[in-house]
Amino acid sequence: MDRIRIASEVPGPRSQQALARQHERESTAVSYPKRLPISLARGQGCYVQDLDGNVFIDFLAGAGSLPLGHCPEDVVGEVIEQVGTLCMGLDFPTVAKERFTDAHLGMLPAHLREDYRVHFCGPTGADAVEAAIKLAKATTGADEIISFRGGYHGCTNGALSLTGNRAMKRNVAGRMPGVHFLPFGSTSQSSRSAVLSASQVDAALLLESALDDVNSGLGNVAAIILELVQGEGGVYVADQQFVERVAAAARKHGVMLIVDEIQTGCGRTGSWYAFEQYAIAPDIFVTSKGTSGIGLPSSLMFYNKRLNNWPSGSHIGTFRGNQLAFVAGARAIDVIRRENVLGNVQARSAQLIEGFQALRSEHPQIGEIRGLGLMLGVEIIDPATGEACEKTAAWIQCKALQAGLITELGGRDDTILRVLPPLNVSEYTITEALGVLGRVLAAYAVSQERE
Ligand SMILES: Cc1ncc(COP(=O)(O)O)c(C=O)c1O
Repeated sequence: MDRIRIASEVPGPRSQQALARQHERESTAVSYPKRLPISLARGQGCYVQDLDGNVFIDFLAGAGSLPLGHCPEDVVGEVIEQVGTLCMGLDFPTVAKERFTDAHLGMLPAHLREDYRVHFCGPTGADAVEAAIKLAKATTGADEIISFRGGYHGCTNGALSLTGNRAMKRNVAGRMPGVHFLPFGSTSQSSRSAVLSASQVDAALLLESALDDVNSGLGNVAAIILELVQGEGGVYVADQQFVERVAAAARKHGVMLIVDEIQTGCGRTGSWYAFEQYAIAPDIFVTSKGTSGIGLPSSLMFYNKRLNNWPSGSHIGTFRGNQLAFVAGARAIDVIRRENVLGNVQARSAQLIEGFQALRSEHPQIGEIRGLGLMLGVEIIDPATGEACEKTAAWIQCKALQAGLITELGGRDDTILRVLPPLNVSEYTITEALGVLGRVLAAYAVSQERE
């Protein structure tokens, strides 16, 4: 499986049957197959095959949880070996866990390596966010949290309370109190979708003054939680100065700085953690998606050793000892180092950005191109109004799927076409994916002429 192959209509008959069964039996809150209606059979590298034998480029890649693509051979071998030895270890020390911990701590910048402890969380990223909220509150004795508009931190109660997406919160009463949302300071020049751009607002100043002003309305602030690239919010890259000033304000006021690296971590942005590119050292950071390298769940919170009085049992959960994820993660880091995967992220990112720019010069539906490393997004707009356009974005995603390319939509009103390829994606696969997008955009122009 190393190139697109569309053998039937999409969805084909077997996928249609599986989707119908899912529709009957599973929760109505199912999400991805609503817009990407296929049933998956197998995956290899950057490609995935559906039940009807169609092969797609997978630029969703397990929502960013497959840094080495589907089923990387070395990592799979390691998991198979471990499965007969020990699968579950709660939070006992084990050989697998020690290898994993060594490997992950070893990926921290050398000057920070001795500064952090790692807390193993329950399987999801959201659980690590919950742990971070608790640790910040326990450390400071304060209870309020500042989050940013456009932020996404997960679906558990605390994490959802810190999330910007209003639709997700609409029917959820009783969320965590004491959360304040401030504008996010991004590098974007676009003010589409009511997002305030850097030229419209000094986001760092608003944060600084909220903390400095004794009449700002804030209570006792325990933490500021920040993504350095807001993924779900629409691929907004944090501005360097904004981040430095947020970190300085947090320090000045004794507020914990929590960086959410659940999506940006493990190489996605071209450095192991995005915070390395901002020259900050968070008090707490959380990571999850890419930790095992193969999509097996594991989620981690790193915290500075000076926050060292968290009593035993403060944040527990049964599934914190996934030994398969540990051996996989340790092996994945070996592969990432050996194959200079972070170098590939930078090279393929440049290739994709250049490709998107070339497409933009021909297709006025493409607005701003944003992102870092292989966490990229393309604004889809209506050239007539200049506004972001949900309908066109959905059309492009659907036609790209039918032509063999899986992408994701995100951002306000799902108007950002998101690509999250495996980090070891090849030059050939990027070229193939750009070719699909070019053909889809050309078909869009033809469809508009007919209307
Ligand atoms: C930045 C960020 N934080 C938290 C989460 C939640 O992680 P999970 O879905 O594993 O709970 C996500 C998931 O997309 C994320 O992107």
